[in-house]
Amino acid sequence: MKNKIFITILLTSIFIYGYGETRTFQGIRTPIPRRMKGQNDVLQLTCTPLPLVRIAIIGLGMRGSSAVSRLSQIDGVEISALCDIREEQVKKANQTLKKLGKPAAQEFYGNENIWKKVTELSNIDLVYVVTDWKAHAKIGIKAMKDGKHVAIEVPAALTMDEIWGLVNTSEQTRKHCMQLENCVYDFFELTTLNMVQQGLLGEVIHGEGAYIHALQPYWDKYWKDWRMRYNQKHRGDVYPTHGIGPICQAMNIHRGDKLNYLISVDTRAIGNPQFLKEKRNIDVKEFQNGDHTSTLIRTEKGNTILIEHNVTSPRPYSRMYQLTGTKGFANKYPVEGYALDIHGIDLEEAKNHENLSTHKFLPESIQKELMQKYRHPIVDDKLEAKAQKVGGHGGMDFIMDYRLIYCLQKGLPLDMDVYDLAEWCCLIPLTEVSLKNGSMPVEIPDFTRGAWNKLRKLEFAK
Ligand SMILES: NC(=O)c1ccc[n+]([C@@H]2O[C@H](COP(=O)([O-])OP(=O)(O)OC[C@H]3O[C@@H](n4cnc5c(N)ncnc54)[C@H](O)[C@@H]3O)[C@@H](O)[C@H]2O)c1
Repeated sequence: MKNKIFITILLTSIFIYGYGETRTFQGIRTPIPRRMKGQNDVLQLTCTPLPLVRIAIIGLGMRGSSAVSRLSQIDGVEISALCDIREEQVKKANQTLKKLGKPAAQEFYGNENIWKKVTELSNIDLVYVVTDWKAHAKIGIKAMKDGKHVAIEVPAALTMDEIWGLVNTSEQTRKHCMQLENCVYDFFELTTLNMVQQGLLGEVIHGEGAYIHALQPYWDKYWKDWRMRYNQKHRGDVYPTHGIGPICQAMNIHRGDKLNYLISVDTRAIGNPQFLKEKRNIDVKEFQNGDHTSTLIRTEKGNTILIEHNVTSPRPYSRMYQLTGTKGFANKYPVEGYALDIHGIDLEEAKNHENLSTHKFLPESIQKELMQKYRHPIVDDKLEAKAQKVGGHGGMDFIMDYRLIYCLQKGLPLDMDVYDLAEWCCLIPLTEVSLKNGSMPVEIPDFTRGAWNKLRKLEFAK
């Protein structure tokens, strides 16, 4: 009901209004709920240091099971509670702890509300949520109200109500609420972020990110088919955070710039209905999620971002990750490469205007040197080696967990705050609004409610 009221307000508030000093925005406005009296933003939130971080993991399917193994290999961590609807998943997770020589965790299983007992436990500092998407926000909100920090898998929230629920609860309780966006910790992304912050790319004016992953081999592995069902019911970019996260960091979103509006277009839905027919003999009359969804965003500073979603076409995996700057260019998929200002240009070849290949990626040897020189300061040899050993998408999952625990142990602000979560997740409901309205521009709200220009850049606290 609440959702329906929200969407009605959203759709009836189409009008023209001023944006910045020079531009006029014509599109669908997205309301911003008023902040309650006495409630303040949580930018750079610091909390009491926790030398030992006691964790409850809720959701122990494919992803949650690997989190058990990763987190228990970090010093100063105790996995105190394990929870899943399915008993066998909880038992398996405790077996993992045993194999790693760790004490057994308290077990919770049996029904879909059992997690409520977990967030109320007094011997827990952090609730780590790895269920399917629909349970994320409600668990996160209750956990913060029960006095716990929360880390929630991607996407942490699906609707504007859920997103504002997490923002408001984090602001009210002064508890951390971090989305477990691992892709910002991949080595190429971290190194490139450092290069951007050192000015190597000049002003980053355009970014491209994506989630392109043919999921056919995995569809049958999800608990109760939750992922296919969500795609069947929803148009829009339903999994945007891997693509947009690292771009927003490089563009200092809510640290000097902000996302202003988006427009979205999608193709017909062919691949997933075909999969359902061929593999499960199910005739689907209406499948909402188009095979390929493209979203364009413009920022307050006048930069642009392109985000794509495709989980069905026979394409190589790609998160794109491409940054165009005034002095340089970075590209991760399908080949990692940098082009910098004049350095990539063969001046002899450039004399011929018809030669379209004069500006090239830097030679591999120079690129290697650059990547070594600009390795992100949070990564040293020891951490890199351990991340590669523990693994998780080549090590980035371990670096994410390590950073979360490091900051909690030291009482430092986390690398990603609840506003990052909100900005990256809001593409889910807002692209759906754009698509249902003929690709109208849709306003992206300032989740900091006025503080987007307070910080100057993203800092990884040390
Ligand atoms: N960051 C990444 O690279 C990455 C990779 C894979 C998955 N994920 C995310 O991880 C999450 C889980 O995905 P998955 O692949 O493990 O799915 P999955 O279907 O394998 O696991 C989901 C688990 O949640 C449990 N569950 C559902 N509702 C619950 C409830 N109310 N209480 C307790 N347990 C409940 C189910 O029993 C199941 O074991 C999703 O949000 C997904 O997007 C992220």
